[in-house]
Amino acid sequence: MPEIKLPEVELNIYTPRDPVEVPIVENRICTKESSPNYVRHVTFDISGTDLEGHVRVGQSIGILPPGKNEKGRDYKLRLYSVASPTKGERGKSNLVSTTVKRTIEELDNNDLYLGVCSNYLADLQPGDKVKMTGPSGRRFLLPENSTDFNYVFFATGTGIAPYRGMIMELLESDIENDIVLVFGCPYRTDLLYAEYFESLHEEHSNFHYMPHISREARRPDGSKKYVQTCLWDEAELLDPLLNSDNTLLYICGLKGMESGIYRALAKKGLSQYLDIREPATDKKPSEWDENHLKRYVKPSARTFVEVY
Ligand code: FAD
Ligand code: A2P
Repeated sequence: MPEIKLPEVELNIYTPRDPVEVPIVENRICTKESSPNYVRHVTFDISGTDLEGHVRVGQSIGILPPGKNEKGRDYKLRLYSVASPTKGERGKSNLVSTTVKRTIEELDNNDLYLGVCSNYLADLQPGDKVKMTGPSGRRFLLPENSTDFNYVFFATGTGIAPYRGMIMELLESDIENDIVLVFGCPYRTDLLYAEYFESLHEEHSNFHYMPHISREARRPDGSKKYVQTCLWDEAELLDPLLNSDNTLLYICGLKGMESGIYRALAKKGLSQYLDIREPATDKKPSEWDENHLKRYVKPSARTFVEVY
């Protein structure tokens, strides 16, 4: 296994007490017209701020939504993953992008709850300004020696955001190792950046795009196609890759998928991606309960996790 050299990163150049105001330059819908979900690609212009040149892909930026909560306190910041490569959106160091999903929920009393920050961001127009903090995140990064490794990237929903920039960066660095992107979403209309990843899949023999549409396709046994089911369904490609000693694994998106992936890795005997402690070591992965998964099964040094 080559040494994993993570880059030094800048953290919290701007804090909630001292945020920076930056304009939005682009806000476009990513989900298809008929989707019940609304995900938008939002780009900010950070020129003239200390963020320029200091935000790495894999990190997040913070947004402070205006207004106060029901207790009369300022809303807290929300984090959003950087979706642009480290050199900036379209190669411009002053542009940083993210991928925002509107949080919309029906409450027990039938009222709709609209998430504060995601809907604030999604409503903004180019020219509108936001209060930004960050960057944050020091581990969910590509190594400096990135071309030494193969990558298996697991994403659900907006968890795909960091991989957009990471994959751009890896392919531009002429990596010869393999990159697999396993993406999960409910419907075909929720595939994010699909045309982009499909074209990369066509162009690069070492890039493999594997969408998993949970509410349309079913597996032969009738179970849902969740991202972790690829460990069985795509075993021909993934077995040799995951058993190779220079493969790194990344997990980003829904909190719930983390334990699903850990259980699947353990069932496949891929414990090198996990740090399994007692009492979980004394049980079969199928016998692990939520407590085992929460406390005693952790990512190993070659597994990178960002779930929310
Ligand atoms: P909130 O208003 O915070 O509501 C969130 C949930 O709280 C609601 O769904 C609801 O269940 C509950 N809730 C809160 N208040 C009430 C109330 N009064 N009544 C009923 N229910 C309530 N998101 C993205 O879209 N893209 C990203 O790239 C992204 N990256 C992230 C990276 C990190 C490291 C982390 C930690 C999070 C990331 N997120 C991302 C999630 C993001 O930070 C926000 O949590 C998300 O956008 C929801 O925020 P919100 O203000 O819209 O919703
Ligand atoms: P489903 O909702 O059919 O159960 P989005 O963020 O766009 O809603 O997408 C999240 C995707 O992750 C959906 O396809 C969802 O499937 C799927 N999902 C939900 N729970 C898990 C889990 N525990 N492991 C893996 N994928 C999951």
